[in-house]
Amino acid sequence: MAAELIALTADMEVGVSEIDAQHKELVSRLNTLLSMGGDAFSREETLKTLNLVGEYVVKHFADEERIQRMNGYPKYEAHRVLHLQFMTEFQRLKKDFDSGHSLKHAMTLNNSLTSWIVKHIKTEDVDLGKYLKSKGQK
Ligand SMILES: [Fe+2]
Repeated sequence: MAAELIALTADMEVGVSEIDAQHKELVSRLNTLLSMGGDAFSREETLKTLNLVGEYVVKHFADEERIQRMNGYPKYEAHRVLHLQFMTEFQRLKKDFDSGHSLKHAMTLNNSLTSWIVKHIKTEDVDLGKYLKSKGQK
């Protein structure tokens, strides 16, 4: 059974082009991973995709945090903690896969990850977007 893919809906738009472009790429990589939940892919292929997601999450969070610091975002610390929590969960998923479990098992164990991303973009990142736009960012 194919996992439900993430739809990038209008309410996920942050309104700052760099962040929106990165969210698009992140969702695209996550969807590739979600579509690999079955048995049609080798562990090597799956691991490669898992790493592509992990690498991009690290880059995206670092860029987003840099933008927040540059603009004196008052909720920077709280936002950074949320990013760290996500990374911890993602590492747990990777460890589960690395220990020999199927991607499906790892994703079931961590099925909150994709819904976390969607909720995070819709709430904290949209909130950040409002602040950045008030500072003249586009
Ligand atoms: Fe964020």
